[in-house]
Amino acid sequence: MNKSFITNDIKEQLDEYVISRAKELVAERFDHPPMAYVHSFGCQQNAADAEHIKGLLALMGFGFTDMPDNADFVLFNTCAVREGAEDRVLGHVGALKNIKRNRPDMMIALCGCMTQQQTIADKIKHSFPYVDIVFGTGSFHLLPQMIAERIGNKKRVFYSGSAKSVVEGIPAVRDDSVKAWLPIMKGCDNFCSYCIVPYVRGREVSRRPEMIIAEAKELIAKGYKEITLLGQNVNSYGKGLEPKVTFSELVKELDKIEGEFRMRFMTSHPKDCSRELIDAIAESKHFCHHIHLPVQSGNDVVLKAMNRHYNIDSYLELISYARSKMDDVTFSSDIIVGFPGETREQFEDTLKLIKEVEYNALFTFIYSKRNGTPAAKMENVVSEKEKSVWFRELLAVQQDICERQNQQMIGKTLRVLLDSEGKSGEDALAGRTEGNIIVETFGDRSLIGSFVNVKIDKAMNWAVQGTIV
Ligand code: 5AD
Ligand code: SF4
Repeated sequence: MNKSFITNDIKEQLDEYVISRAKELVAERFDHPPMAYVHSFGCQQNAADAEHIKGLLALMGFGFTDMPDNADFVLFNTCAVREGAEDRVLGHVGALKNIKRNRPDMMIALCGCMTQQQTIADKIKHSFPYVDIVFGTGSFHLLPQMIAERIGNKKRVFYSGSAKSVVEGIPAVRDDSVKAWLPIMKGCDNFCSYCIVPYVRGREVSRRPEMIIAEAKELIAKGYKEITLLGQNVNSYGKGLEPKVTFSELVKELDKIEGEFRMRFMTSHPKDCSRELIDAIAESKHFCHHIHLPVQSGNDVVLKAMNRHYNIDSYLELISYARSKMDDVTFSSDIIVGFPGETREQFEDTLKLIKEVEYNALFTFIYSKRNGTPAAKMENVVSEKEKSVWFRELLAVQQDICERQNQQMIGKTLRVLLDSEGKSGEDALAGRTEGNIIVETFGDRSLIGSFVNVKIDKAMNWAVQGTIV
């Protein structure tokens, strides 16, 4: 094949002809059924993208393996949110160099947020000549073209284009049979001053509600019991759609689906989380009374420097409104410690806030400078030592809160979706509450995928334990 499949004019749909051509070329390249290894770093959005990438690889005839060393096609779906991720990924790639020397037919591909950055793509081009295919975040539907191009034209493929819409119709090979990701939008328009995501994932684009509802129905019909709607800021879902639709309206439509299942969503941006949405969750049958509502900092000056567009008073008002509507609602959050210019007093405001809200889970991050973001140019950086002291303090405070909450669960009966085997012995099973608390119990493996009521009799570090009643 000498025709180049890749043009700058990016296709916004799957091309069946190219998929079948790629399948032929893959079959010719390997004298055995080809196996792929796909590994995703970072957030849930990346995990969901990887499931669709696996769907495309399956269409091209690939099976899947957990061992990169034995794979014919290895793909790392990368993350760029924090420094250090880059070195880790390149370490994984470096480990494949000798394997590829012995098996030159092996193909190595890198994609995702890290490779969307031109400097990184250039580094891979020049320093990792055994990497075959590199592409960014908005073009994974073109993987069949890229594979066809690599095998057919024998040229390495570097592609940085990005589809403007969300490409529909890509099948998924899902990692789990109980819980499923359902992306409802891509990109982010918020430009929080520390964050690289808007630069690597582009502007917000929402999927059409009918596509989302159809996918949710299909997942439920297949037996999935928990669906998590995904977007960088689900609260601004619907921007640009005609006719107009809001996230609360989408929630209400999805809630009409019949069946025994749960729904969650992430991530909510406090500036766009409306009372209407809280009402919709409170009145719903299926939506968990749990909101992941990242606050990032407990201090208004830091929030302003972070470009977050809310203050602590309005954030706390939202929390108390939700509590007034749902007495069982729980919250989780993301916190960044050591933002440039942050003082000890400002950090203590964060400690004060987490004690006041009593989140049931915190995702804590040490600030990491991302070149190209406004925060990267800010002065008065917090020293590494100070950041790690604050970070440990924050963890200890949250640990106390979680231990207290876990103790308070003893004697209560909780509804749990069992999703996996437990850690404490052969018949141990594990699952999660609406509030995403891990519960361990005991019973037959066939119960995985069902909702059970568990009476809690023990609190552990990482979970609570109890008996099915
Ligand atoms: N440094 C540290 N944490 C970050 N996050 C995003 N960018 C950075 C950064 N540069 C965190 C935020 C966000 C979560 C997904 O990652 O808390 O909510
Ligand atoms: Fe990053 Fe802010 Fe967008 Fe979240 S909302 S992805 S933190 S820019």
